[in-house]
Amino acid sequence: MIPDLNKVKDVITKNNIWKSIFRHGYEDTPRNRVLHIVGNVWMHIHPLTVRKNSLKISYTFCLGGLTFFIFFFETLTGILLMFYYTPDVNRAYADMIDLSNNAAPFGRLLRNTHRWAGHAMVITVCFHMLRVFLTGAYKSPRQFNWVLGVVLLVLTLLLSFTGYLLPWDQLGYWAITVGTNMAGATPFIGYQGPFADLFGFSVDNDLRFALLGGTSIQAPALLRAYVWHCLALPGLAGGLMILHFWRVRKDGFSGQL
Ligand code: HEM
Repeated sequence: MIPDLNKVKDVITKNNIWKSIFRHGYEDTPRNRVLHIVGNVWMHIHPLTVRKNSLKISYTFCLGGLTFFIFFFETLTGILLMFYYTPDVNRAYADMIDLSNNAAPFGRLLRNTHRWAGHAMVITVCFHMLRVFLTGAYKSPRQFNWVLGVVLLVLTLLLSFTGYLLPWDQLGYWAITVGTNMAGATPFIGYQGPFADLFGFSVDNDLRFALLGGTSIQAPALLRAYVWHCLALPGLAGGLMILHFWRVRKDGFSGQL
């Protein structure tokens, strides 16, 4: 029997989850066309009208903006640090010590500001989340942006964690030991976790193995942490931030109400 495609489409698109993510499907009326144009982020980066109330610094304390600014700063200082640091178990620690001793111009300043700004980003993102919660901005129609925010929070924490490993000192070494052991105990995909046998995961093919690039902590583990820290996580976080900002505009900023 061939299923009725219109019914299938209705089941997929006529529910709250779909509508919170996709905001299309307006009736084709002249008024809705105008609304569509003025709501287009590329053509109107700011809303047509802005209420005085929404401009008060005390509403957001610019915590989301500050988090973004710090992310931008981290990207810049991180790229500069990449010119000196080598993700090699025999070189990483010495490179960090050299940087701290200003073997490269402004090495200590770069390293320390990158580290402190990393801490600051974790603090501002938590306060931003608290602000969103306290002002009730997580409620409909912004529930999808809240979910995006949760992913951004996790990415921020992962960026901090992977960065912490890179000096390859005792702190980093034992942090990667604890972190990847936790991964090894994840349900279903960690070899020590519950239900690992269900999909045939063992010590040499589970999540811990993927993170370490082996069954123990050796050179591939540092290289993987480096690639996650410098490429994959910032790329993902940057892309999701663009989506997050676009949604602030699309859902309507809560302070406008
Ligand atoms: C890297 C992390 C993040 C960045 C860069 C970021 C950035 C921003 C910015 C610039 C805004 C505009 C208003 C403001 O400045 O407060 C905003 C709004 C918002 N953010 Fe975030 N955010 C991040 C993480 C989060 C997290 C962790 C959550 C919640 C779990 C969240 C949920 C929201 C929501 C719901 C809004 C709309 C608020 C409203 O309309 O009042 N964001 N974000």
